Amino acid sequence: MQVLAKGGNAFDAAVAVSAALAVVEPMGSGLGGGGFWLLHRQRDGLQLMIDGRERAPLKARHDMYLDKNGTPVPGLSLNGALAAGIPGVPAALDHITRKYGRLTLAENLAPAIRLARDGFPIYERYRRLAEFRLEALSDSPAAAATFLDQGFLPEAGFQLKQPDLARTLERIAAKGRDGFYKGDTAHKLVRGVKKAGGIWSKKDLRDYRIVERKPVVASYHGARIVSAALPSAGGIVLAQTLNILESLPIRQSGPALRKHYIIEAMRRGYRDRARYLGDSDFIKVDVDALTSKQYADRLSEGIGKRATPSKSLPGIEPRRLGTDTTHFSILDRDGNRVAATLSVNYPFGSAFMPAGTGVVLNNEMDDFSIKPGVGNVYGLVGNGANAIAPGKRPLSSMSPTFIETEDAVVVIGTPGGSRIISMVLLASLECLEGRGGAKDWVALKRYHHQYLPDVVQHEAGAFTHAEEKFLEDHGHKLETINRNYGNMQAVVWYKKSNRVDAASDPRGEGLATIQ
Ligand code: GLY
Repeated sequence: MQVLAKGGNAFDAAVAVSAALAVVEPMGSGLGGGGFWLLHRQRDGLQLMIDGRERAPLKARHDMYLDKNGTPVPGLSLNGALAAGIPGVPAALDHITRKYGRLTLAENLAPAIRLARDGFPIYERYRRLAEFRLEALSDSPAAAATFLDQGFLPEAGFQLKQPDLARTLERIAAKGRDGFYKGDTAHKLVRGVKKAGGIWSKKDLRDYRIVERKPVVASYHGARIVSAALPSAGGIVLAQTLNILESLPIRQSGPALRKHYIIEAMRRGYRDRARYLGDSDFIKVDVDALTSKQYADRLSEGIGKRATPSKSLPGIEPRRLGTDTTHFSILDRDGNRVAATLSVNYPFGSAFMPAGTGVVLNNEMDDFSIKPGVGNVYGLVGNGANAIAPGKRPLSSMSPTFIETEDAVVVIGTPGGSRIISMVLLASLECLEGRGGAKDWVALKRYHHQYLPDVVQHEAGAFTHAEEKFLEDHGHKLETINRNYGNMQAVVWYKKSNRVDAASDPRGEGLATIQ
């Protein structure tokens, strides 16, 4: 709001919010991580995705997380310096400001620098996730000194000051991307990573590039959906599931059968995620074919009234599950808009901080398929398409999305690991079918199927008793998740009435503000 009041546009505001979240929500995203910023420029209708996803270091190898017997070494892709990809956030903030903003990078980073220097009181979710990652944070002296209180979990209200991070932000403010990828910061990052057993080099940092990508565009009964391109699976899986649902009689079905169809569409979309998707700079992915109506028609033919066992499709058992990441949605008075989903992957990423930087590094390397068929921390399986290679970007689920109907423009997205895509799908369907408004979409009870494990995970209350019975009678295995998940942020512009609405997920922190 400060940046907009100063004459900045939605793109400046997106930079300011990204940087501020790096300070006040270090467990979700940060300078040591990556993300996707979906931009719409109103004056000429330009739509693009800034891909600031992490890249594998040049010394990365396809089997770097396996022992000599080919078995994944527990924790190696999750904790510590070896788990970190080369960050993209600082380069993206510089690029977005210079190419699309109206203010300077120093102006856009000023609120974050203040927050890092002056501190802020920690809140319940910070404390909970710091506790969850206490062991890994304690293993990194700089991370422990920053995020803990004398080595202990800080009490509620503890004022978290991050002077090293403030200085790193100041170097970026003064020198742009060179303030991070070269000079003093780069030196400290590489020295810290190497000392802790990691494989980064100065060349990795110098060579890092963001990419401007064409978003994935889908349609659903005439509405337009714009979402993330590879290396996020988000747009493709969203397009595919919407295409499948468009070809099924969901509008004429009762609520239980409708949910069955949605689950079956998710199953097929996530299966293709595992089979075909990876960094399109490294592998060939036929996005047009995968998102075509004809392909969806073929997939729909296999959907009947009973659940299709995922076992009847190729796959292997998964590992564990988690949530992370952050999302924000912005619309400015000119109609420019940004949906941005940013991440360090697991809460507090790798929990490793190179000394003197204030930057906690991601563990996005775990989003690669570290061994074909072995699930990552979200239980997502993959194959060679998402295998590790030097310079490659790991496959993501982050799905910043615009929905454009005859009357409404919606800017939406959420954190939540592998469940991001299914959350955006469920909210999009409500919007596309004209049900409710922003508050209802972000609060909607959620269910999720990701092909493997072959189970419908759901929040309590996502299904009525009768729906549960119907789904179980038709072959679905249901599993209640004993906590809420996601933190969806939605902004809507109703064009005919020129009215704006916004809502923040009641499950998480967040604030919807309209001015
Ligand atoms: N690290 C979460 C994602 O990119 O999907």
